[in-house]
Amino acid sequence: MTSTEIRNSFLKYFEERGHKIVPSASVIPYDDPTLLFTNAGMNQFKDVFLGTGKREYNRAADSQKCIRVSGKHNDLEEVGRDTYHHTFFEMLGNWSFGDYYKKEAIEWAWELLTKVWGLDKKRLYATVYESDDEAEELWKKMTDIEPSHVLRFGKKDNFWEMGETGPCGPCSEIHVDLTDDFSGSKLVNAGDPRVMEIWNLVFIQYNRDDQGTLTPLPAKHVDTGMGFERICAVMQGKKSNYDTDVFMPIINRISEIAGQPYKAQ
Ligand code: SER
Repeated sequence: MTSTEIRNSFLKYFEERGHKIVPSASVIPYDDPTLLFTNAGMNQFKDVFLGTGKREYNRAADSQKCIRVSGKHNDLEEVGRDTYHHTFFEMLGNWSFGDYYKKEAIEWAWELLTKVWGLDKKRLYATVYESDDEAEELWKKMTDIEPSHVLRFGKKDNFWEMGETGPCGPCSEIHVDLTDDFSGSKLVNAGDPRVMEIWNLVFIQYNRDDQGTLTPLPAKHVDTGMGFERICAVMQGKKSNYDTDVFMPIINRISEIAGQPYKAQ
């Protein structure tokens, strides 16, 4: 599939499940002094999560343009050194505003990856927050994931927050094992490009205030984000995001102008 087909297929999948397809918000957050740049698809829905704003729909999906160069989510140190971080990237996301919760988020993520897109389930791992028994049970009950591929991690990896303050909650990430011999189990969350996070399912249920205190939100929400350039690399069988059709036309043109050949990973 081309990158355009992958993006469209994601949006169509969630549109068929009652999601309103919305445009990407500006990368400069509107009316939010806590963020320099938009760092996630959920930023534009912060007010809905906090219960201070409403939309005409309670399910949404989009492809959000993100910049992660400052604050809590800053990938600057990785960019240019590895194959899968970018300062500017697209994030495919689906949201539930007090509507469906963990069960549907997990079922649909699994169905899209393994049934619609045909990823090999032996290559997929799901992580859950250390105390989230419910998410672990749902992975094992609602999907045909290899049970030993459901792993628990602590706050650093499995509790997602948009910034120092704001909506947050435990999350469940999907990682893909790209090793030749399926030996990636120990490389999940190890910063190794052979085992890469592709999708984060966040179960938003708290607000963190400027004193650091967590307060339960009026309702529970789903906020997911999939690395678009990463899923393109996986689907197109490339070892590096830069070798996909997202970047190659630009790289080829630069190579032409520079008169230097580009060597793929
Ligand atoms: N907000 C979460 C993230 O950015 C999921 O979209 O990872």
